[in-house]
Amino acid sequence: MAASKTACVIGGSGFVASTLIKLLLQKGYAVNTTVRDPDNHKKTSHLVEFQSLGSLNIFKADLTDEKSFDAPITGCDLVFHVATPVNFASEDPENDMIKPAIQGVQNVLKACAKAGTVKRVVLTSSAAAVTINTLNGTGIVMDESHWTDVEFLSSAKPPTWGYPASKTLAEKAAWKFAEENNIDLVTVIPSLMAGVSPTTDVPSSAFLAMSLITGNEFLINALKGMQMLSGSISISHVEDVCRAHIFVAEKESASGRYNCCAINTSVPELAKFLKNRYPQYNIPTDFEDFPSKAKLIVSSEKLIKEGFSYKYGIEEIYDQCVEYFKSKGILQN
Ligand SMILES: NC(=O)c1ccc[n+]([C@@H]2O[C@H](COP(=O)([O-])OP(=O)(O)OC[C@H]3O[C@@H](n4cnc5c(N)ncnc54)[C@H](OP(=O)(O)O)[C@@H]3O)[C@@H](O)[C@H]2O)c1
Repeated sequence: MAASKTACVIGGSGFVASTLIKLLLQKGYAVNTTVRDPDNHKKTSHLVEFQSLGSLNIFKADLTDEKSFDAPITGCDLVFHVATPVNFASEDPENDMIKPAIQGVQNVLKACAKAGTVKRVVLTSSAAAVTINTLNGTGIVMDESHWTDVEFLSSAKPPTWGYPASKTLAEKAAWKFAEENNIDLVTVIPSLMAGVSPTTDVPSSAFLAMSLITGNEFLINALKGMQMLSGSISISHVEDVCRAHIFVAEKESASGRYNCCAINTSVPELAKFLKNRYPQYNIPTDFEDFPSKAKLIVSSEKLIKEGFSYKYGIEEIYDQCVEYFKSKGILQN
């Protein structure tokens, strides 16, 4: 059935988009994808390899260049807008992340409206667009009605505030444009993703998820920062998140936002689990007065009620990541 359909994946060089492209090709879709620099072999060589799996055309496009999306989107049935500017260390988040993310959403959606063939657009949002607020407590359930408090982010400016602000404002801009232009939009809202990546470089989110095992102090602190700002350590396998993208694209009844998060935990709980499962690594378990319970839970109930099920639990996610890191020489034993 899918063999005659063409899907466009915006941002094909990334961790999530690369995994999504592979799954789409395996399902028989013809795929167009966009990258910023098709001549950057380090970032595109895996895409060239994917061309043996089916029809995959690679186009050059930049989120800030409106016209660049016309060619890849023309004639497509589905569009997956996955790309986003990521620069956690930015000193100018407004220009480095917020403006290009919003402009990118508008440029991609404009090209979809112009094409006239696109049945549905799936936008990759983030739990960072849902969970950041000034509530206190533990076990607070966050469903799709929740939005990150951008006023809090832009006034308090906690570290890395530009990324969640950009994801929230970009998703809101997408909803506005879709409503005004009659576009069938669905958003998938993933949390931290781990798993094996087809890209040449190991993705930064896999490094973050694995930090308690690798012992990288900077990233362990970033993981703690994530719990403090976002309210939890919520993790999914990248393949499950990509399966969810295809699921909501294909399921006619799907509409609106979908949280997509398999596991909700905290840094101390995760460390305890990892220490028991991988006793050979020097995993810290003493976090002094750091909160042992997560403030909130990112609920995927809507996605599950729609008929989706996760393939990978915490054990499989970490077993695969450990093997992946060993194969890359990052872990020794
Ligand atoms: N990974 C996670 O844990 C996680 C969690 C929640 C949500 N998400 C969301 O999932 C999506 C994919 O994330 P990822 O982890 O796959 O990130 P990634 O590996 O860093 O990929 C980001 C992609 O965006 C592209 N990009 C950045 N700026 C661009 C621009 N100006 N024009 C065109 N393309 C641009 C990058 O292209 P270049 O290769 O040219 O830089 C890259 O392909 C994002 O929307 C992210 O917010 C990710």
